[in-house]
Amino acid sequence: MVTARRTPLAAIVLAAGQGTRMKTRRPKVLHEVCGRPLVYYPVRRALDAGAGPVVVVVGHEAEQVEAAVAAAVAPARVEFAVQGKQLGTAHAVLAARKALAGFEGDVLILSGDTPLITRETLEAVRAAKAGSKAALAFATMHLENPTGYGRVVHAPHGGPALVVEEKDAAAEERAIHEVNAGLYCADAAFLWETLGRVDAKNAKREFYLTDLVALAAEGPGAVTAHVSSVEASGVNDQEELSLAVRALTRRFATAHLKAGVTIEDPERFDCDEEVAIGADTVVEPGVRLRGRTRIGEGCRVGQGAILTDTVVEDGAAVKPYTVAEEARIGPGAQVGPFARLRPGADLGPQVKIGNFVEVKKSRLGKGSKANHLTYLGDATIGEGVNVGCGTVTCNYDGERKHPTVIGDGVFVGSDAILVAPITIGEGAYVAAGSTLTADVPPGALALGRAHQVNKEGWAERLHRARKARAGKRRK
Ligand code: UD1
Ligand code: CA
Repeated sequence: MVTARRTPLAAIVLAAGQGTRMKTRRPKVLHEVCGRPLVYYPVRRALDAGAGPVVVVVGHEAEQVEAAVAAAVAPARVEFAVQGKQLGTAHAVLAARKALAGFEGDVLILSGDTPLITRETLEAVRAAKAGSKAALAFATMHLENPTGYGRVVHAPHGGPALVVEEKDAAAEERAIHEVNAGLYCADAAFLWETLGRVDAKNAKREFYLTDLVALAAEGPGAVTAHVSSVEASGVNDQEELSLAVRALTRRFATAHLKAGVTIEDPERFDCDEEVAIGADTVVEPGVRLRGRTRIGEGCRVGQGAILTDTVVEDGAAVKPYTVAEEARIGPGAQVGPFARLRPGADLGPQVKIGNFVEVKKSRLGKGSKANHLTYLGDATIGEGVNVGCGTVTCNYDGERKHPTVIGDGVFVGSDAILVAPITIGEGAYVAAGSTLTADVPPGALALGRAHQVNKEGWAERLHRARKARAGKRRK
C-alpha cells in the first residue's frame, strides 16, 4: 500500500483578545470549561490533529495566559507569540509569523474561544483544502440567528467571494445565514504574502483575517467546509460559556453512556475530559468527577460526590456527598455518606469509611473500618482494624507531623485520642475514651483514662439539702 505523503501541518491559535463581552477581569480564554481553561481545547485539538508547531498568540494578560496554557497542555508543548496591541485577527496571525519562519505547508488557524471544536472538524477543513487547488479553506456553518458573525458571500458561480463582518454588512448581507466559523486552513506562503495586503479600512478599524477570503478568491482560490454549528460556536459571553460547558460535558457523558456506564441524569453530571469510568458503574445525579479520576467497573457513585484525581476500584461504593482528592478507594470498599478523603488517603479492599470521617495521607488495610466521626492523618492501619466513633490521630504538634501505626486486628474503642508518634501492636485493644501517648504492645489492653468513682446515694443527699434550704427561706 502506498500512503500519500501529507502536507506538513502547523497551527495558530488566537488568544490575545480580552473578551470584553465576558464582563470579567479574567481574560476570556482562561475561563474554566470542565476543569481546564477555554483555550486548552482548541490547542489540544490542533495537537491531536497532528499540528506541530502549535503557536498560541497571546496579548491581553499574556504572561497569565501563557502559564495557564503551558500547564494545561503539559507534557505536550506549544509555542507562544505576543501580539502587543490587539489590532484585529489578521494582525494576530501576523504575530505568529516569526515562530513559523521557514515552515512550509498548511497552517490551521483556530480561535481560542471555540472549546467544542473537534479533531474531525479540523481534519475536514484540511481535507477541503487538500481536495482543491485553493490556497485557503475555511469552515462555515448555518445559523438560525447569525447575529455577530461574519457572513459568507458567494460568487455567482458558487465559490466563496468574501466574508463581511456584521458591522460592515449591508442589510441584504445581514440576511445571510451562512457564517464564518473562524477556522481556517491556509497555505503558509499564501498566508504570509497575503496578510501584508490586509488593511484596516472597515467599521472597526481592525485588520480582519476574514479579508483573506476575498484576496484568495481573486487569486489562488478559496473553498468552504461546512461544519456543525454547535461545534464551531465561539464563547463570547457568560451565557455562551455556560452553554459550552453543558455541551462539552454532554459529549463526555454520551461517550460514557455508550461504554456501559449508567448516568442517572446526564444534565446533572459534571466531568472532565480525562475521567475514565468502567462499565456497570452507576453514577447518581449531581456527581462531579474532576481531573484524572478513574472509576472501575460495577461501582456506585452517590449523589453529590465530588472526586478529584481519585481512583475508585471495581465494586466500590462512594456514597452521597463524599469529597475525595488524590485518594484511592480499593475494590469493594465503601465510603460515605459525607466522608472526606484528602490527598494520600489509600483505602484497601473492603475498607469502610463512614459519615464525617476525614482521612489524610493514611493507609487502611483490607476490611478495616472507621465508621463515624473520626480523623485519621499520617496513619498506617493494618487489616481488620476497627476504629471506634470519634477517634482522633493527633498527628500535628504545631510544628511537625508524626505517624500513627496500628497493627492488624486492633480494636480502637470510641473517642480514643492517639497522640503521635505512636504504635499500637497487633491485636491490641484500646479502651473507649483513652488518651494514649505511649506505644501499646501487641495483644494488650490500653486504658488511658481516669478511674471511675461512683458515690452511692449522692443524688438523694443533694435533693434533701436543696429542700432544706428552700424551707428555711420560706420562714
Ligand atoms: C471572528 C470573525 C468572524 C467569525 C467569528 C467566528 C474576524 C474579523 N471575524 O469574529 O467572521 O464569524 O470570529 O467566531 O476575524 N483575537 C486576537 N487578537 C486580536 C483580535 C482577536 O488574538 O487582535 C482573538 C480573540 O482572542 C479570539 C479570536 O481572535 O480568540 C476571535 O476574536 P473575536 O473578537 O472573538 O472575533 P469575532 O468578533 O467573534
Ligand atoms: Ca468570537
